[in-house]
Amino acid sequence: MARLLRFAEIDFPLDPSAAFGRAGPLVLEVGFGDGRFLVTLARAHPDWNLLGVEAAAASVARALRRLVREGVEPVRLFKGRAGFAVRNLVPPRSLHAVYVNFPDPWPKSRHAERRLLREPFFRLLSTRLEARGRLLLTTDHEDYFAFALEEAKRSGLFEAHSQPPPPEVLTTKYAEKWKERGRRFFHAVFVKVAEAGEDFPPLRKEDEMPHAILEGSLPELGDFAKRVHAFPGGHAIFLEAARRAPEGYYFLVRVEEPELELVQELLLELRPSAHGLYAGLKRFGDPLVTPGVRHAVGFLVDWLAARGLKVQKRSY
Ligand SMILES: C[S@@+](CC[C@H](N)C(=O)[O-])C[C@H]1O[C@@H](n2cnc3c(N)ncnc32)[C@H](O)[C@@H]1O
Repeated sequence: MARLLRFAEIDFPLDPSAAFGRAGPLVLEVGFGDGRFLVTLARAHPDWNLLGVEAAAASVARALRRLVREGVEPVRLFKGRAGFAVRNLVPPRSLHAVYVNFPDPWPKSRHAERRLLREPFFRLLSTRLEARGRLLLTTDHEDYFAFALEEAKRSGLFEAHSQPPPPEVLTTKYAEKWKERGRRFFHAVFVKVAEAGEDFPPLRKEDEMPHAILEGSLPELGDFAKRVHAFPGGHAIFLEAARRAPEGYYFLVRVEEPELELVQELLLELRPSAHGLYAGLKRFGDPLVTPGVRHAVGFLVDWLAARGLKVQKRSY
């Protein structure tokens, strides 16, 4: 059955035959929206191992329901951003093809750097595609189309062929919407012809939850307020604190690390343990230990130290 990939269960990069339970050409769809194109691809190419990456949680949930209902196999979904997934999940030279259908166009020029198909993405992708591997772009946005062609050309790593879109890409939700409005469609196939010189190593995955052990009594939460801590590479936003039963606190924290293309909502906890008070990341909600998460634990420990608790051990 189609299913969602969880950090706790996977390696960086993925071992595709373990993740899919079989060998086969690895094909990625970025921004799969409601998932209907994944169903089309799975039916048309039963030998492909399909990896879908989508940033919006509601779309991931909708697509997963659709894939399960339609009984398509094997498809693996990842909730997150394409740059993160390509860098960390996809092994070098393993991708057969990538589909990008109707990417968000970000039409204002000051937002151009939010576009997916920029030179840095083409450079990263060149290291993950097999020789002559392809990215297929379909869009209704002429300006973004020209932009993507230009960015790929600038990378010097792809040859681009503009051609009429194949019929199957015109069946996605956005294709249907733009057809109704009589929009024109643009399609290009970008073929990898060379590989970027730089290395794009995946993050190192760690199993141990970053934490500290402190001595002292639980502080009052009276002066806790939403706070933002900056660190090199991002922000940790302490959103809320709540009591934990029977004793201790939970801290709801959002860690944003734009360079990793990763945003996580996490629980930190402060609770009694056999050795003292444990302050650290809770293994809940499939957290990924990143430098930003370690910083968040560090901010919590500093906050506690400022309230008179003594730090006995730091593991973060
Ligand atoms: C305009 S919709 C197109 C959806 C679908 N491909 C279709 O044709 O109906 C763009 C989709 O890409 C997703 N998205 C945008 N940026 C993304 C990124 N960097 N990584 C993964 N998904 C992204 C959005 O959440 C949205 O679902």
